[in-house]
Amino acid sequence: MREILFDRFGGPDVLTLHTDSPRPEPAEGEVLVEVAYAGLNPLDYKIRDGSSGMAADLSLPAGTGRELTGTVIGAGPDLDTAELASRGVAPGTRVFGMRRPTDRRGVAAEVIAIAADDLAPVPDEVTEEDLPRWAGLALAGLTAIATVHDAAELREGSSVLIHGGSGGVGQLLIPMAREAGASHVWATGRAANAERIRELGAEPIAYDQVDWQQAVREATGGEGVDVVLDTRYFSTFLPSLDVLRADGEGMIVVLPSLADLTPAQERGITARITRIVTGRDRLDRLVQGMRSGAYPLETSRVLPLEQIAEAHRLLEDGHTRGKLVVDVRP
Ligand SMILES: NC(=O)c1ccc[n+]([C@@H]2O[C@H](COP(=O)([O-])OP(=O)(O)OC[C@H]3O[C@@H](n4cnc5c(N)ncnc54)[C@H](OP(=O)(O)O)[C@@H]3O)[C@@H](O)[C@H]2O)c1
Repeated sequence: MREILFDRFGGPDVLTLHTDSPRPEPAEGEVLVEVAYAGLNPLDYKIRDGSSGMAADLSLPAGTGRELTGTVIGAGPDLDTAELASRGVAPGTRVFGMRRPTDRRGVAAEVIAIAADDLAPVPDEVTEEDLPRWAGLALAGLTAIATVHDAAELREGSSVLIHGGSGGVGQLLIPMAREAGASHVWATGRAANAERIRELGAEPIAYDQVDWQQAVREATGGEGVDVVLDTRYFSTFLPSLDVLRADGEGMIVVLPSLADLTPAQERGITARITRIVTGRDRLDRLVQGMRSGAYPLETSRVLPLEQIAEAHRLLEDGHTRGKLVVDVRP
């Protein structure tokens, strides 16, 4: 079968298409899925270039990608059809999901084995044209849930600044912050993405046209915001500490896992890094938001599997709008 593998850490060109990979065998608790689309995330290139903590104990050659949509085509020895049906993932069902953090196998392959609990059914009404959006939903969505509900503990009336509002996670952070009761939500992005940010439910701040710190100060009457959700970190973390409310009750949540929070802690500011939690209950929550239209996650490009290196280059550029997806179908 076709599968993307890399045999050393490095640039996008280490990603190689193999056409003779053996089909995996599903272990206990796993199903076999014929993959339709794989969603891409910055984590993919950080694992590929060896800079992610998740690359440390990875054995090479390794697969790439963490999230997908596809169709269940088989199951491990302990999962009979009745059991699979009771979980809504019987053979023939379209599913979406992501590998749990401890599962380092890739998903950019024609067929994968994956824990049944890491998947949820795609609703019947979803058209084939709309399927790529579901490939990019699980990782960004579970990250947004963990950011808004576990780390930030957002509540009614909070004022929130989101960095990277039109990115994969940002597009879900905005509606989730609103749902959690945030009364004012601002989100940074280039002017070209301002309209998108507004559609998602935040007041856009075009960081390429205005001084965003000054814009936040003016918008909050000098008070600052209660919470910053920072999907960028490198250029945004330190300046964000200066736009948090001054009484020390503000909080910043950062997404990149290797972020150094010391500068915030030294100033007595609560700072946390998002820790993703996988699980069916959370996937079902994402399904509800997609069905209701509350989470209008956008797929900006779908590239063929053969062009996965190009997809990594685009992602590393840091200006992806919504999600990038690769088409794994033959
Ligand atoms: N901790 C966890 O469990 C976890 C989980 C998932 C992701 N992450 C991390 O979270 C980060 C974001 O992930 P993602 O999938 O959302 O990435 P992404 O989709 O690649 O984010 C791209 C977005 O960032 C915006 N951006 C770029 N430079 C910016 C700047 N200086 N100020 C404000 N916005 C800027 C871009 O908007 P413009 O084009 O308008 O600039 C673009 O929309 C990554 O580092 C990822 O590794 C962590």
